Amino acid sequence: MDDQGEVTRREFLKTAGAATAVVVLPRFSEGESQPAAVSPNSRLNYGIIGTGTEGCTLLRAFTRVPGAHCVATSDIYPPNQKKGIETAGSNPQLYEDYRQLLDRKDIDAVLIATPLNLHASMLLDTLSAGKHVFIEKTMFFKEEEEAPIRKAVAAHPGQIVQVGLQRRSDALYQYAMEMIRAGALGKVMFVRAQWHRNSDWRRPVPDAKFERLINWRMYREYSGGLMAELASHQIDVANWAIGAEPVSVVGTGGIDYWKDGRETCDNAQTIFEYPGGQKLLWSSILCNARYDFNEQIMGDRGTIEITLGKGLFYTEHVAKVSQGASKENWWAGATVTEAAEQQGLPLFPETVPAHEGFVAREQRYAREWLIRHGYKTIPANDAWFEELTNFVASVRDGKPVACGLDQGIADARAVIYGNRAIDTGKKVFWPKTTG
Ligand SMILES: NC(=O)c1ccc[n+]([C@@H]2O[C@H](COP(=O)([O-])OP(=O)(O)OC[C@H]3O[C@@H](n4cnc5c(N)ncnc54)[C@H](O)[C@@H]3O)[C@@H](O)[C@H]2O)c1
Repeated sequence: MDDQGEVTRREFLKTAGAATAVVVLPRFSEGESQPAAVSPNSRLNYGIIGTGTEGCTLLRAFTRVPGAHCVATSDIYPPNQKKGIETAGSNPQLYEDYRQLLDRKDIDAVLIATPLNLHASMLLDTLSAGKHVFIEKTMFFKEEEEAPIRKAVAAHPGQIVQVGLQRRSDALYQYAMEMIRAGALGKVMFVRAQWHRNSDWRRPVPDAKFERLINWRMYREYSGGLMAELASHQIDVANWAIGAEPVSVVGTGGIDYWKDGRETCDNAQTIFEYPGGQKLLWSSILCNARYDFNEQIMGDRGTIEITLGKGLFYTEHVAKVSQGASKENWWAGATVTEAAEQQGLPLFPETVPAHEGFVAREQRYAREWLIRHGYKTIPANDAWFEELTNFVASVRDGKPVACGLDQGIADARAVIYGNRAIDTGKKVFWPKTTG
């Protein structure tokens, strides 16, 4: 990201209040390890626990971040042990028992990308071992894990904790949030989000003895199912756009299509309500992928439809909704405004090729329209690379984390309460006194 991008982002984080402050003065309990000091010029040694699908995605991104070096991996499934070592490409030491990885004094930071039921204990162990932590979403599995996590993070203020909700690091999402804060959508009242697939959501199992280890998402002992794996990203987007966490949720769902022995829902639908009456309507199905996945953020002046790598901005025809509204209430009279009402303006105009084709020209018009209306344009980025770059900057320079404790906790709570609403068929309210 260039300098201008940095300033924009910093300013945005300030206005949005989305960053978790990083306290740099460490305090330690007796007998606990201290985080290794990482000077700006020295390399940051890290280990990773869980080198399955997401672990390897993180490794591929982290190997491109200057100054970060993978010295150790931990996994318990031999094919993924091999994949992790190969993906790291730095000849890391493999540990079957992650606690041996945590015992290494030369490791500054640890990435955790294991099944959800292991997150809290691994996070707590990593903090106790004096390491900075990057923990995959969903941050934790059970409601009762929140308090010990809060306590441990408070007891280790010199250690960074970043949560792997990578949309927080995506330039397109940051830009969308900037537009929302600047009033582009007017009053945001509704978010509709869906994650639809047409597949059984299973992974191939070479031997039945590995079924639960590989398909842990199917079993309630390890997983919060669709809510934890898919909704978690989109709840975080809604929380970010609305600037609050929900106060209640109703839901339904079931195992209605893939009756194959799974324990977690194959479809789920929830409505989260926020303090100002805003709603997040979320659905996931595994039998139709026509509307695959995105979030539609709706205000009384416009809509942003967004997912990783693609965003559209639609304006509302204000005169239609406001009795007696004058033409001044319209956003602009140009044809491009009509396009913004009908087809949406792309939010990620990139470099226009020399021989401009139709799409490039449309993008240029859109960019010009956005610039005229005070919105800057941004280059596309790689959210995984950015979140890990940010993690290194937080460890080294105290830069605010891209997604911290409060966002991670708000997200995990919503996942837990959403599942509870589905399981009980009752409206679930957030506890009155939440931190
Ligand atoms: N941010 C994202 O976009 C994204 C995408 C996919 C998954 N995830 C998250 O990443 C985490 C892992 O998901 P995944 O799809 O990579 O799962 P996965 O099953 O592919 O990988 C998990 C790995 O953890 C290993 N493991 C299990 N128990 C272990 C233990 N005790 N010690 C060490 N390793 C152990 C498994 O053998 C496996 O290799 C989940 O929390 C998931 O929600 C995030």
